[in-house]
Amino acid sequence: MPTVTLIDHPLIQHKLTLMRQKDTSTAKFRSLLGEISMLLAYEVTRDMPLEKVEIETPMAIMQAPMLSGKKVVLISIMRAGQGILDGMLQLMPSARVGHIGLYRDPRTHIAVEYYFKVPGDVSERDMLVVDPMLATGNSAVAAVYRLKETQPHSIKFVCLLAAPEGIEHFHSEHPDVPIFTAAIDDKLDEHGYILPGLGDAGDRMFGTK
Ligand code: URA
Repeated sequence: MPTVTLIDHPLIQHKLTLMRQKDTSTAKFRSLLGEISMLLAYEVTRDMPLEKVEIETPMAIMQAPMLSGKKVVLISIMRAGQGILDGMLQLMPSARVGHIGLYRDPRTHIAVEYYFKVPGDVSERDMLVVDPMLATGNSAVAAVYRLKETQPHSIKFVCLLAAPEGIEHFHSEHPDVPIFTAAIDDKLDEHGYILPGLGDAGDRMFGTK
């Protein structure tokens, strides 16, 4: 069964409201996204497997839990995924990182890949695919199809805001990939922007408007 998990922690919701406001500066927007991304990472990694290892404290020997298995792979869908990636890397500095770049062909509206660089052997690694906005879902759907070709152990999709249309589209194509989001907004406008949303996440993050 496909799942959408709404991560509605009060700190995330408060920071997201600040991000949505149109007068929030580029610097503030970027730092808030970094903070929220750490909180999202905390929730999304709750089910990471642990194993007991023997360690020595100054007082005694003990069996203590540590993460088991291979390091997680974070995949940023360019370019706005970078903001979530940076925040998550602060919490998981040893994570492996991949990037996928897609643009929308203005004539056909099909997502066209222009960049793809993912760590070599991901067959035993869990993959977190990050992009702040799940709008139409076209990029996310295409990215996950491409990433499935690398046969990772598992895939989760993590975003900040999702539109109902994007969730439906994504789940119709990838019912096996759970979505984690901080909010589900009302709808898309005629240009594919999320309403009420926060505008263009990449432009707001990089100050390109
Ligand atoms: N991408 C954005 O950055 N914002 C939207 O509202 C939709 C897609």
